[in-house]
Amino acid sequence: MKIRLLILALLAISVAYAQSQQPNDIIVKAGQEIAPVQPTMWGVFFEDINLGADGGIYAELVKNRSFEFGKPLMGWKKIGDAAKEGTMTILNRQSASTANPRFLRVKRENAGNGKLGLNNEGFRGMGIKKGLRYDFSFLYRQPQKGIVMQVELLDEKGSPIGSATVNPEASGDDWKTASVSFVANATCLKGSLDIWFENEGQIDLDMISLFPADTWKGRKGGLRADMVQMLSDMKPGFIRFPGGCIVEGIDLGNRYQWKKTIGPVEQRQQIMNRWNVEFAHRPTPDYYQTFGLGFLEYFQLAEDIGAAPLPILNCGMACQFNTAELVPLDQLDPYVQDALDLVEFANGDVTTKWGKTRADLGHPAPFNLQFLGVGNENWGPQYIERLKIFTKAIKEKYPYIRLINSSGTDPDGERFDYLNGALRAMGADIIDEHYYRRPEWFLQNAARYDSYDRKGSKVFAGEYAAQSDHTVSVDNRNNWLTAMSEAAFLTGLERNAEVVHMASYAPLFAHTDGWQWTPDLIWVDNLRVYGTPDYYVQKLFSVNKGTHVVSATSNQQPLTGQEGLYVSAVVDKKSGQLIVKVVNATPEAKKKNILVEGVKHSGTAVYITVLKSEELTSENSLDHPLTVLPIENSITIKGNKLPVVFAPNSLTIVKLPYRK
Ligand code: AHR
Repeated sequence: MKIRLLILALLAISVAYAQSQQPNDIIVKAGQEIAPVQPTMWGVFFEDINLGADGGIYAELVKNRSFEFGKPLMGWKKIGDAAKEGTMTILNRQSASTANPRFLRVKRENAGNGKLGLNNEGFRGMGIKKGLRYDFSFLYRQPQKGIVMQVELLDEKGSPIGSATVNPEASGDDWKTASVSFVANATCLKGSLDIWFENEGQIDLDMISLFPADTWKGRKGGLRADMVQMLSDMKPGFIRFPGGCIVEGIDLGNRYQWKKTIGPVEQRQQIMNRWNVEFAHRPTPDYYQTFGLGFLEYFQLAEDIGAAPLPILNCGMACQFNTAELVPLDQLDPYVQDALDLVEFANGDVTTKWGKTRADLGHPAPFNLQFLGVGNENWGPQYIERLKIFTKAIKEKYPYIRLINSSGTDPDGERFDYLNGALRAMGADIIDEHYYRRPEWFLQNAARYDSYDRKGSKVFAGEYAAQSDHTVSVDNRNNWLTAMSEAAFLTGLERNAEVVHMASYAPLFAHTDGWQWTPDLIWVDNLRVYGTPDYYVQKLFSVNKGTHVVSATSNQQPLTGQEGLYVSAVVDKKSGQLIVKVVNATPEAKKKNILVEGVKHSGTAVYITVLKSEELTSENSLDHPLTVLPIENSITIKGNKLPVVFAPNSLTIVKLPYRK
């Protein structure tokens, strides 16, 4: 009897429910979890491209501080009357210091008659802030005390906006550090630095440096706080570093070698940045890698912003768009050893060689490295051969490390098909796919992962960016169309969180006066920073990532572009929220009901965040950073039916607190 009553009651409920449900409603089964969303789902991809590190997030203001650029005085200008007043020459102590062999020798002979000095132009000028402290320092040695240095910050017109005097003590043959701090009395976007040498004498100089005091967490020699804040605000699940193609290098000699990027900055051997000469249409002859932002700093940055560190290492292949140099298979050991040592550096106990190195550098606690990339955009059987050697060695010693493998440069075509097949046959942990494609491609590929094997290798959507023109075109823009089409694609990644474990836009940063590649997620000048519409899309997905994907369908189908709509839904079991993301990629408003099943709405507000623009060509900029910006509202609903009007060309995030 009881069972009959129960069946009747259930029938009544389902009839009532069926009556309330309209065709085309969006049905969200919040109680039915499909898969966990990985904590690493949305992350950031860092590369020193577009003055991302040197001249960007690494807050050093002096360009070519150690005279190691191809032209040793690039960025520097002799001022005063060198011919009459003395000499300034570059010397090379190759035998004593292979990492940083050059230094400047200043001889002042006719003190009193005229002036002798040097000016540094900064990367694209120096951004200076009124009232802020600046720390000037340098390495020096001198036979005897003599020369006094006057340091002067100048604005764009050449007027002094801050100064200090340094009186180096005598030092004999040893190199010493001298420093002085002073406060700037004006703000300017493109300042420069004069150093005047007074009195007679001789002094050798190296590592001439100027840092602002307002670095991230106030660290000496640290990072630009405003740029790190933009990353931190995204709450990224991971940070991939240091690239990108700079991992591969134009040739193997110019590959990224992490061991040369740790320890005292004056001992980090600088190399030419491969983006210096990559594009004839965007040459950047003054682009070098000082490695002031090196591997310890990258790990520290990851820790600071709560992101899992994801280093990528060279796999024994130089960039295949450049020299394509290969390390013979029987000579790969040092490369593999670098990978093993990196895991020990990050995670090893302080009694191990590399764990101790980490501790000696000031970070005894391990960094909890779980992911490691082998190779960037490498392809062909040569990659697979090398990868197998790396994989065997790393898995033998560190079976818990999840390896990221390359599927080449494109998300389809011969290279991709070969690698995808070979990697899946190898049982690869995570395959890195890259998509630099037109906005249409992103709109058409929201269902890309619906058919991927649920049990096989996982996917890292490692580099994506919609190209409003075409890849490497200087006319590409970060506009609302590119951002919205990415949002549509991201619903497909989220819906397939069972397969896709990580995703990041690329490149991350660009300096408005020093970029080589566009579009980019975040743009800066020497003083300001702004997020593109693409940034806000990535951020909205990341800060609303939830813990589990749940089913969201209309007419029993996931929405992957039908009627121009793209939908995904997650629940956040920690905060008790259902989060539905809807992209309306049409010029008309769409009125829809979201029908929530499986959880009870607590009867309070529902938060609706909308990112949209009237014009698909809308952009943010340094002067107008808030043109395309998320706007949050709240509404109150009763029951489980949520009527929502999705604005034309919009991304809408609906957040609904629930109880079970
Ligand atoms: O993001 C810019 C470049 O694009 C990366 O360095 C490389 O991996 C890809 O080709």
